[in-house]
Amino acid sequence: MGNGLILGIETSCDETAAAVVERGRRTVSSVVASQIATHARYGGVVPELASREHLRAIVPVVRAALEQAGVGFKDLDAVAVTAGPGLAGALLVGITYTKALAYANRLPLIAVNHLEGHIHAVLLREREERDTREFEEPVLALVVSGGHTHLYLARPHSGLWGYELIGRTVDDAAGEAYDKVAKLLGLGYPGGPWIDALARFGDPKGVTFSFSQVKTKAHLRGKTARTKGANTSPIAELDPHFLFSFSGIKTAALRYVELHGLRNEAERRAELLYPARAEGDGKGADGAVKPPQTKDGALALCTQVTLDLIASFQHAVIGDLMKKTFGAAERLGASRILVTGGVAANRELRERFSQETAARRLAISFPTKSLSTDNAAMIAAAAWPRFEAREFAPADLSGDPALKLA
Ligand code: KG4
Ligand code: ZN
Repeated sequence: MGNGLILGIETSCDETAAAVVERGRRTVSSVVASQIATHARYGGVVPELASREHLRAIVPVVRAALEQAGVGFKDLDAVAVTAGPGLAGALLVGITYTKALAYANRLPLIAVNHLEGHIHAVLLREREERDTREFEEPVLALVVSGGHTHLYLARPHSGLWGYELIGRTVDDAAGEAYDKVAKLLGLGYPGGPWIDALARFGDPKGVTFSFSQVKTKAHLRGKTARTKGANTSPIAELDPHFLFSFSGIKTAALRYVELHGLRNEAERRAELLYPARAEGDGKGADGAVKPPQTKDGALALCTQVTLDLIASFQHAVIGDLMKKTFGAAERLGASRILVTGGVAANRELRERFSQETAARRLAISFPTKSLSTDNAAMIAAAAWPRFEAREFAPADLSGDPALKLA
C-alpha cells in the first residue's frame, strides 16, 4: 500500500488492454492486444468474436503489464476497469476478471467510464511531458472515435472532474464513417489509418461534400438514436449547432463510387489487399490469418479519382469537427481544447486543429499517438482521482453498454 500504483483494465471494444500507472501521472507499463486480425476480414467488429478474444487475451495481457512494470499484485493500490460504454459481452469479460482480481488480492475496485478514460489520456500526457499543474479552467473536450463523437465541457473540481455534454452525433461516429468509407473503397480495417495515409495523395477539393445543419426534429425527441455511441445521451436539450451527423457523408461517398464506376476498382483492391476475405474463412492454407497488405501497396491500387474522393472525405469530416468544436469553444468561452479518441491520431486533424487554435490564440492538447486509440493507461489514469476520493465500485458492479458521462 502506498506506491500510488493502479492497474487498469480495458475490454470495452476490440482491444484487450492492461496498464500500470502511478498517481495518474506516470505510465509504468501499457500493453494492448489488438484484435484487428480477427475482425479485419469482416470489415468491422464482430461482438461475439470480441468477447471470445478478450477471454483468451486477458490473463496474458495483465501478466505482461505487471511484468513490464516489475510489480506484483501486492504492490498495487487498486484495480480499475472500464464499466461502459461499450459492447456488453466485451465489458463483462473485463469486469468479471477485474472483480475477481480485486477480491482475491483485497484491492479496492474502481469503475471508469471509457469516455472519461479518453479524456484522461490527454491529461496523463500533459502531466508526463509538461509536469503541469492540473488545468484550472474548464476545457472543451472532443472525444472522436469509432463509437463516439461527443463534445464535453470538462471542469476540474479539486482533483475530480465534472463533465457537461455540449454536443454529439445523432447517428454515426466519425470513426465509424471512416471505417465504412474505407470498407466501401476496399481498404483495410480499421479504416482511419488507411484513409489518413492515402489522403495526402488526393485533392481535398476534388469532391464537394456538404454538411447541412442537424435539426433537432420533433421526431427525435425522447427517442433513442440508432447507434451505440449516439445512444448514450438524449439530444433534445442540446444546441443543434453542436450536433454532428456522419451518416450522410457515408451515403454521399457511396453514391460517388456508383456514379463514377469505382466499384470494380474497390472490389479488386479488397481482393488484393485481403485475399483471405475473398476466400471466405480468413485463413491461408497453413491455417494462419493472413496479415493485411501495406498502405503503400494500397496506394498503387488507387486511381486518382479514388484518391481525390479519399482526400475530400477526410477534409470534409475534419472541417465539420472543427466548425462545431471551435463554435462551441467560442460560445462557452473555453480557452483550451482537447481532442482525443482514435480519430485524434489523424495527421490532418492534428495539423488543422493546431493551426486554427493558434490563429484563435487558444490552447490545444492531444494524447500521444499510441494513447489516442483504446488502451488501459487512460483507464488507470482516470481512476486515480477516484482512488484519492475513495470512490470505489460495489462488489456487484456490472457493465453498462450505454453508460453516460455527465
Ligand atoms: O478510440 P478507438 O480505438 O475505439 C473506440 O473507442 O471506438 O477508436 C477507433 C477508431 C476507428 O474508427 C478507427 O478507424 C479510427 O479510430 N482511427 C482513425 C485513425 N486511427 C484510428 N481515424 C482517422 N485517422 C487515424 N489515423
Ligand atoms: Zn475508445
